[in-house]
Order: sequence, then C-alpha cells, then structure tokens
Amino acid sequence: MVEKVFVTRRIPQAGLDALAAGAEVVVSPHDRDLSPEEVIAQSAGCRALVPTLANRVDGPLFDARPEIRIVANFAVGVDNIDLEAARQRGVVVTNTPGVLTAATADLAMALILAVTRRLVEGDAILRAGQFKGITPLFMLGSDLEGKTLGVFGLGRIGLALARRAAAFGLRIIYHKRSRRPEAEAELGAAYVGFDQLLAESDILSINAPLTEETKGLFNYQAFARMKREAFLINTGRGPIVVEADLVRALDEGLIQGAGLDVYEREPEVHPGLLDKKNVVLAPHLGSATQEVRTKMALLVAENVIAFLGGREPPNRVV
Ligand code: GLV
Repeated sequence: MVEKVFVTRRIPQAGLDALAAGAEVVVSPHDRDLSPEEVIAQSAGCRALVPTLANRVDGPLFDARPEIRIVANFAVGVDNIDLEAARQRGVVVTNTPGVLTAATADLAMALILAVTRRLVEGDAILRAGQFKGITPLFMLGSDLEGKTLGVFGLGRIGLALARRAAAFGLRIIYHKRSRRPEAEAELGAAYVGFDQLLAESDILSINAPLTEETKGLFNYQAFARMKREAFLINTGRGPIVVEADLVRALDEGLIQGAGLDVYEREPEVHPGLLDKKNVVLAPHLGSATQEVRTKMALLVAENVIAFLGGREPPNRVV
C-alpha cells in the first residue's frame, strides 16, 4: 500500500520527486502558510507530515490526525513542534541538520560585516544621491580585527561562525551548556560564563536553539551589561531576544547596533527596529540558498521514505 505524505507548503522539486518515489505526495495548493485547521483538514489519511517553521505541530493536531506517525520538519530547528506531545503519542520527529550549517554561518558573518561597516546604511545614502565622494570622516564603521566575538550556543552553526570569524582576526569566546574542548583547541576559543560573555563581547552572536532556558534571555538587563560599542547578531531564534527591550537598549545607546535574521513574532518585526540605521534586518534567510533548500528537501524525503519503509530515519529528534 502506498502511504500518503502531506507537505504544507511547496518545497524544492527534487524533494517532492524523492518523496514521490516512495509515497503519494499531497502538497498544499495554497502558496501561503496554512492555519492549524487547514493542516488538519488537508492531511486526512496521511501517515507523514512535512511542515515548515510556520506550522505549529502540537497535541491537538496529533489528536485530530492520529494517522500521522512521522513529522519531518523542513528546518533544523524544531521549536514549532511540541516534542513532548509527539513523544507521548509515539510520533517520530525528524529535522534537517548539517546541510544548512555553512549557509547560516555565512549569513551571520554577512550581518556582522554589514552592521559593523554600515553597508545597508551606505547603500541607502548612495541611492538617495547623497554620496559626495570619499572624505576622511565619512561613514566610519568598526574594525573586526582584534575584537572579541562572543558566541552564545556553540553548536554546529556557532562553530562554523567561529571558524569564519577567526579568519577575520576575531578572538572567540563562547557560552554553552557544556564545554567544547575541541573548539577551544582548534580556535583558541575561551569558555566563559553568561555574564562574562555579555561583558566582553564586541560582537555577540546568538546561535542557540529556542528552549525554555533560552527564551527571553537577552532582555534589558542583559543589554545593560554589554559594552556600549557592542553589536548583537541573531540568526538563532527570535524569541531568545525580548525585541522591545532590544529597541529600548538601542534607543538608550546601551549597545551600538544589531544584525538580525530572526524575530520574536515572525513575520512581524518590532516597528522600533525598522527606522534604525544601526540595525541590519534580514527576513529569516539563514538557510535560503538554492543549494541548501534543495538539500533540506532531499533530507526531509530521506527521513520520510526511511520511516515508511520501516527503517530508522537518519535525522530523528524524537
Ligand atoms: C531555520 O531557521 C531552520 O531551523 O531551519
């Protein structure tokens, strides 16, 4: 019997083709994020669900669709899924690790360069016809060489960013639940406590997953403990930062600027960020390259097909 898989939003064709080799593929006909009710309605009779980060996958969905036995998330982060609810019901959950590590670290590095060298601000000035030629005091930014990058969450992506940053002459410090001696040996990275990370970072990059522990950790009190010249970079998850507190910290000059790819209430962005020249904003582009999205789609298919074939999916989270 051919099992059905429901894909909540169109993903690269290579992934759909790979899924179709072992399942009947139902793709949402709408090119938009589905509501929970729509996911339930459209996944009738499906044994596998392929959601995106925009889909909340939780107990009510599992109870409405007990035929769903695997959720293959089209993302490495799984904070859109209630893992405990899945565990309780014996539903398998998989993600897409590894394939997006380099691209996301590249984007973090791009934000670091863009905000420290005022690239977006400069682009706007030029387009507005306000470039009057190079002058000694025009648009001065901040150096990277010799500065300190603090990485909050030295997982795969954090480590890939640290490697890139080391090549730019940055000293690396990091904070994580457990130490990574191999990163310390490779990059001379120093393990520090959270307070020291805040106090010593010239650039502080959030590369941690969203968990109960990390949610809201970067609040006003945290920004108040950072250097006035520091930049905050977030390519992890929006809700790790209290966005209203970040806006206040920027307004009060507690930190110098920010480069963000993720937001507390995506796709909403705090209006206080939109008019700030010292903030560079990307629309959650960490994994958004042709190559990476294709690899993610293929990984999703590999997990679903393995599961439907009675084999262990390679990227099982639950
Ligand atoms: C993107 O944010 C992902 O988790 O894949």
